[in-house]
Amino acid sequence: MDFKPYIRVIDDFPQPGISFKDITTLLNDGKVYREVIAELARRMEGKQIDLIAGPEARGFVIGAPLAVALGVGFVPIRKSGKLPGETIEADYALEYGKDKLAMHKDAIQPGQKVLIADDLLATGGTIATSINLVKQLGGDVIGAAFLIELLELNGREKLGDIEIESLVQY
Ligand code: PRP
Repeated sequence: MDFKPYIRVIDDFPQPGISFKDITTLLNDGKVYREVIAELARRMEGKQIDLIAGPEARGFVIGAPLAVALGVGFVPIRKSGKLPGETIEADYALEYGKDKLAMHKDAIQPGQKVLIADDLLATGGTIATSINLVKQLGGDVIGAAFLIELLELNGREKLGDIEIESLVQY
């Protein structure tokens, strides 16, 4: 299925020069949303996955339903100050702006196989930092799955030697 027609592009948001890929229009259509998750789940067939980790906030919208579809746990990667337990944190740069990401220290057991999921791969900063956090906890990052990939920004190059799946490319 071609998902691109369901994604709304809004130019100059959140700042001039950024062409924002708005997935709310896709999420609004239950059948299409379900098909996105089903297609990502199909692409993960045959892989051993113990957990899915996804960064706040749009990573939850893809990662959590994918975890349910695969019957594995979901680990939230959150912006600093949101998680109540003991955390590890790492700085990261975004396509626009910067922030800190955090994970609970006990969210991953050493050796667990972790798939990272998010709505969008842009510069790769968010996911490179997410991979770094998962590895610090002893997790084995087996791949990353996205709804959208912005090819021009070469985010893949920041992610090292892992398998990357994306359903829509710009
Ligand atoms: C967006 C998007 C990805 C990230 C991609 O999240 O959901 O997580 O940016 O950009 P990158 O590859 O350049 O790091 P954002 O930080 O805007 O947060 P949100 O999901 O809470 O809107």
